[in-house]
Amino acid sequence: MRKNIVAGNWKMNTVLEEGVELANNVNSLLEGKTVNCDVIVCVPFTHLTSVNAVLNPECVALGAENCSEHAKGAYTGEVSASMVKSTGARYVILGHSERRQYFGENNEQLLAKTKIALENGLLPIFCVGEVLEQREDGSYNDVVKAQVEALFSLSAEDFGKIVIAYEPVWAIGTGKTATAEQAQEMHAHIRGVIAEKYGKEVADNTSILYGGSCKPGNAREIFAKPDVDGGLIGGAALKAEDFMGIIEAFN
Ligand code: PGA
Repeated sequence: MRKNIVAGNWKMNTVLEEGVELANNVNSLLEGKTVNCDVIVCVPFTHLTSVNAVLNPECVALGAENCSEHAKGAYTGEVSASMVKSTGARYVILGHSERRQYFGENNEQLLAKTKIALENGLLPIFCVGEVLEQREDGSYNDVVKAQVEALFSLSAEDFGKIVIAYEPVWAIGTGKTATAEQAQEMHAHIRGVIAEKYGKEVADNTSILYGGSCKPGNAREIFAKPDVDGGLIGGAALKAEDFMGIIEAFN
């Protein structure tokens, strides 16, 4: 059966020393505690190796926030999936709406990134979600369906390794969260789209996380929905206690 997961997305926050301290704090809060979900922290490239050194892999897994669609070579400034993997990271966020919006990442590129991440043994946390206009004009189900379908040339075995994160763009960093009902409706829709292509077993085994202004105060209600398997947490992942509060929503 699918896993419950709480994953932090630090985005472009913290200098190295602060990031290591935050990771240390998360790690200490988790050590010796029994929690009912897997915990992941996705951190800036520059922090991966140092954060890996302070995490107890039995409590917290490490992830990156992006990787290149190219394997290696003359791509100045890019970071490859194999480089990410070599730091000890197990996960990589792909297709975050900020990457789609500000860096023009498109479906083709995201498929290439997903493939190369999987080839290198990284598990993608693949983000989908509509913008406010699409929520308002009612096209949100189709928009998200198309984003998920961008991965449908993957084999069932490969698709089965992916974690989906539904993040309505209008809820990211805005303090305006989707209601638990809106999240459930979309998560069930996504699971249905996956089931149509890969069958019920793959769909039932896919963890689908909610992201967008998730906090200790609203996580429990959202995570209680049957198709919501956890959260991808931005702002609240920058404070160890808040992140812990969200993790404990599963207790
Ligand atoms: P937020 O970000 O929790 O700050 O809204 C979520 C995300 O972008 O992953």
